[in-house]
Amino acid sequence: MFPDLTRDDVFRIETRRLWLRWPRAADVADFTRLAGDKAIADMTTCLSHPLHAADAEDFVIGSRKTNVQGHGLVLALSPRDDPAALIGMAGVMFQEEGSRDLILGYWLGRPYWGQGLMNEALEATIDMAFLLSRAESVRSPLRPDNEAGRKVLSRCGFPVGEGTRAPDPAGRKARFMDAAISRSDWLAARSAEPARIARHPSAV
Ligand SMILES: CC(C)(COP(=O)(O)OP(=O)(O)OC[C@H]1O[C@@H](n2cnc3c(N)ncnc32)[C@H](O)[C@@H]1OP(=O)(O)O)[C@@H](O)C(=O)NCCC(=O)NCCS
Repeated sequence: MFPDLTRDDVFRIETRRLWLRWPRAADVADFTRLAGDKAIADMTTCLSHPLHAADAEDFVIGSRKTNVQGHGLVLALSPRDDPAALIGMAGVMFQEEGSRDLILGYWLGRPYWGQGLMNEALEATIDMAFLLSRAESVRSPLRPDNEAGRKVLSRCGFPVGEGTRAPDPAGRKARFMDAAISRSDWLAARSAEPARIARHPSAV
């Protein structure tokens, strides 16, 4: 469970270029436009294609409910200089009641790819996941052909060289691998030289 601190929508995280904040109703238009990209839906387990405004609305409501209940922390990404805009999402969620495994999901709108933004967002998300909950691992379903996702996870300290095949939660997508980082791996990476967790070149 996540603590009271994250269960109110005043909670937000600031990174070098981003705000990670609770999604809200006003995000539905940006969400529908950006997450409606088939290239994004194909790589994730939780987005359908085509994506309608009602689907985006359900996603926003569901994310807020998860946050209120402390079952996860699902946040919208906004540029620091435009906090009202949504450019992507990143979130962790406990798989089931009493579980110590968090499932990580993330996507970024295509116009924002290639700048290391998701690297920045996921470092903050994973730090929050381990610091604020009692999770023992963070797992991320990853399509074997998702090179961008693999690079991002690897830079965040995930050992994604080899993985075990994960069941597809939605039962409708191509097979996904299960990439995971344990609390002890995260602690080791965080307490070692900063270089142990690689940075995107733009974040230096
Ligand atoms: C995965 C994703 C979040 C990456 O975000 P990002 O901020 O653009 O990531 P980065 O800027 O660090 O770039 C990723 C790296 O992958 C590379 N890359 C991107 N597409 C690639 C492809 N098709 N094949 C090989 N490499 C690719 C980029 O060149 C970059 O490499 P570099 O930093 O060594 O130059 C974004 O591509 C996305 O939203 N994809 C669809 C959703 C998704 O895959 N979610 C993950 C599963 S839930």
